[in-house]
Amino acid sequence: MNVEIVSQTLGRVETDAACLLVCEEDGAPADVNAAWLAELKASGEFTGKSGELAISHLPAGFAAKRLVLVGGGKRASLDLRRVVGATVRSLKAKGVKTLAWVLGDGDAAAAAEGAVLGNFECDQHKSSKDSKSLDTFALLATEAARDAVTRGVILAESQNFTRELVNEPANILTPGVLAQRAQAMAAESGLECEILDQDRMKQLGMGSLLGVAMGSSEPPYLIIVRYTPASAKSADHLGLVGKGVTFDTGGVSIKPAEGMEKMKYDMAGGAAVLGAMRAIARLKPSIAVTALVPAVENHINGRAQRPGDIVTSFSGKTIEVLNTDAEGRLILNDAITYAQRLGCTHLVDAATLTGAIVVALGHVNIGAFTNNDAMMARVSAASKLEGEKMWQMPLDDEYRELLKSPFADLANIGGRWGGSISAAWFLREFAGETPWVHLDIAGTAWLDEAKPYMAKGPSGVAVRTFARLAMDW
Ligand code: BES
Ligand code: MN
Ligand code: ZN
Repeated sequence: MNVEIVSQTLGRVETDAACLLVCEEDGAPADVNAAWLAELKASGEFTGKSGELAISHLPAGFAAKRLVLVGGGKRASLDLRRVVGATVRSLKAKGVKTLAWVLGDGDAAAAAEGAVLGNFECDQHKSSKDSKSLDTFALLATEAARDAVTRGVILAESQNFTRELVNEPANILTPGVLAQRAQAMAAESGLECEILDQDRMKQLGMGSLLGVAMGSSEPPYLIIVRYTPASAKSADHLGLVGKGVTFDTGGVSIKPAEGMEKMKYDMAGGAAVLGAMRAIARLKPSIAVTALVPAVENHINGRAQRPGDIVTSFSGKTIEVLNTDAEGRLILNDAITYAQRLGCTHLVDAATLTGAIVVALGHVNIGAFTNNDAMMARVSAASKLEGEKMWQMPLDDEYRELLKSPFADLANIGGRWGGSISAAWFLREFAGETPWVHLDIAGTAWLDEAKPYMAKGPSGVAVRTFARLAMDW
């Protein structure tokens, strides 16, 4: 889809659908017949509530085929990204190919993001693309909006890159293929990419990551993508770590069959980190950023690790593997330690880490954990600006007790209660004093149902927050 800026009046623009935002408290916008809007409101068919559309075909005095009033809800709680996304989705389903949006005083980046995200479908493996799509999204705005539109398109296209990766099934997207996709993205974006293979990880002593990989015939990789700014404004070095489990059977502590097909999205954190790097390469922030994605398949064969196994991590800490299904933390800890070895001064990780975070926060908020309030404030500010909701969870010292093992330095599970907290504490043990935020995206990385503004399937959550974090550092 083309996103363009058109300096044209609403009446003159030639398009399938000329769209105008009307919020609940708004009167008739200029160009719109006030009597028509008054009649619509009186009938209750269109009152400006979010989700409403009033479509008028061949409107007199307009070059457009349709004039569309779009409800925005209350102005104070307007979410332009979602309103534009929902409008794009509902109009493209009617066969609309070109859409013009009157920007008014709205945020051009958010409008462009909403359109690009709304237009995306997870149809990469459908032989007939029955889901329709827009060809052109034109923003009726001035040149002053140009930079914001460019930024919005980069962010949303990078998020769609992540959604497409996450939607790949595990037979196609093995750890090796994920590494190849990362390499291709890096080459196309002008980023450095380095892939550590199993032999290299053995030399380094990444016993925790390698323990998870043992049960699969697919070899593991540690994917590293680097962005170095032309001129760095600070000595800080941001590390983005993403869980890259291309499929999670649970291992010997096997998962129930019901719903297991969804576990192809267990690499959503890794894909989010790669999508963020794609955006960062194009937006060129002035801070160094390194992405690390441990890519493995958690599978079962005759060599698979067993409950009770004790592994030695890259950090030197020993871990008793009480449950092979708690594999995310086992691969992330080695990546976190390696990030520190590479000189990262600040760390954020994203992982579909626990079912417990879905119980706690449902599908609305990411669960956020930290060892450093200033770092949390930075991540939280970025998430607010990008409209990716998160909620901070506690990490009191008392919870640390849950991970005690009689036979090793740490156990990899902490019992039934507070499961997302003990998982986060496990990672914190390896982050140490490095300012770190952990995002548990198990509840937010996959939409079980389509939203009005977004297709069912992978959401691409955290891409925009990560890119914004680097931009605003
Ligand atoms: N990938 C899962 C977490 C998950 C569950 C993500 C549901 C999305 C939806 C993770 O590897 C896992 O299996 N976690 C276990 C941990 C437990 C064994 C302590 C869980 O949450 O059940
Ligand atoms: Mn698991
Ligand atoms: Zn998992």
